[in-house]
Amino acid sequence: MLEWEELIQECENCTKCELGKTRHKVVIGTGNRNARLMFIGEGPGQQEDETGVPFVGKAGQLFDKILQAIDLKREDVYIANVVKCRPPNNRDPEENEKKTCLPYLRNQVRLIRPKIVVCLGRIAAQEIIDSSFRITRERGVWFERKGFLITAVYHPSALLRDPAKKQVTWKDFKEIRRRYDLLATIK
Ligand code: URA
Ligand code: URA
Repeated sequence: MLEWEELIQECENCTKCELGKTRHKVVIGTGNRNARLMFIGEGPGQQEDETGVPFVGKAGQLFDKILQAIDLKREDVYIANVVKCRPPNNRDPEENEKKTCLPYLRNQVRLIRPKIVVCLGRIAAQEIIDSSFRITRERGVWFERKGFLITAVYHPSALLRDPAKKQVTWKDFKEIRRRYDLLATIK
């Protein structure tokens, strides 16, 4: 396991998969390194690739609003992605790209030691929770892992495409907030 500075260095120099050839900036993660709550998205889009910061595009702006709605700020949580480099044309990351990048994310989780991990969307949930995860059926379900609780919600982009998903997502986020408060006394 690497400490932060070393980990960041490795990510910034990483050429282990094809995405390293086309990225502009590596998007490592942002927020509070002592966060009790960590969010994991899919991978950088165009704006993220340009800025090096996760969730700054359209989906990110919606995500900020959702966080605000449960009275949290970006600085309270940590936000990262399954892959740290932008897949060209926003295609889904490929299996080998996810597998190659995952050790970096695991290293981050071990450094942060969150109490709650929330997967944003199907890709993250299938990578982190279960490869057969069905987002429509299993979002909002909570699982126990060694050291933390984990759940998945619809990806903010899915909410932009289909606003009907917002209602149930609001319920999911209220439950995230409730559990976050319950754990407040622990860390
Ligand atoms: N979508 C993601 O999954 N991650 C980002 O960082 C931005 C958009
Ligand atoms: N499709 C996705 O990729 N993610 C969601 O959260 C919902 C539908």
